[in-house]
Amino acid sequence: MTAATTLPGRLAAFVQGMDAALGAGSDEPRTVEACAALLRELVAHDDWLPEACSHPHPVHYQQYLLHRDPAGRYSVVSFVWGPGQRTPIHDHCTWGVIGMLRGAEYSRAYARENGRLVPATTEERIEPGQATCVSPSIGDIHLVRNAYDDRVSISIHVYGTDIGKQSRHVYDAETGVAKSFVSGYANA
Ligand code: FE2
Repeated sequence: MTAATTLPGRLAAFVQGMDAALGAGSDEPRTVEACAALLRELVAHDDWLPEACSHPHPVHYQQYLLHRDPAGRYSVVSFVWGPGQRTPIHDHCTWGVIGMLRGAEYSRAYARENGRLVPATTEERIEPGQATCVSPSIGDIHLVRNAYDDRVSISIHVYGTDIGKQSRHVYDAETGVAKSFVSGYANA
């Protein structure tokens, strides 16, 4: 699902907006700001996500590719949480904007100090219509979880590369030791 003409209307409008913002030759802060504004519009309405990209997995979260920019400048995924599911501590090694479509999620940021990982004292909660950002320049390491133990939550993520192919890291919470991983997609 990569040709804009085959995308649901709201997603096609988002992609058009992203292409216009990037076409202007934007730096990262401007790109992220434009992306967050467009993404807040996209997730303000929960009536467009293809059903095939909204299915939870019984054991772990799912990441479905919704759109991959042909020039590789960004990708859009749906991130589907089953009840109570969470990520390991991980990073992205690129900028990312996360918009909440359905349900809610918590993100706890981690800072690297002397090789150890120090968790933020509070979690950030995002609700439908809201967006938040990650990036190596503003803080890239976090642990994310479904805010609900009894229902599915779905967020829409945009990253500054083809995130399914990006080499990045998961971290051991105790030792801070990083391990490389490539996430792939559940549907591509
Ligand atoms: Fe993340």
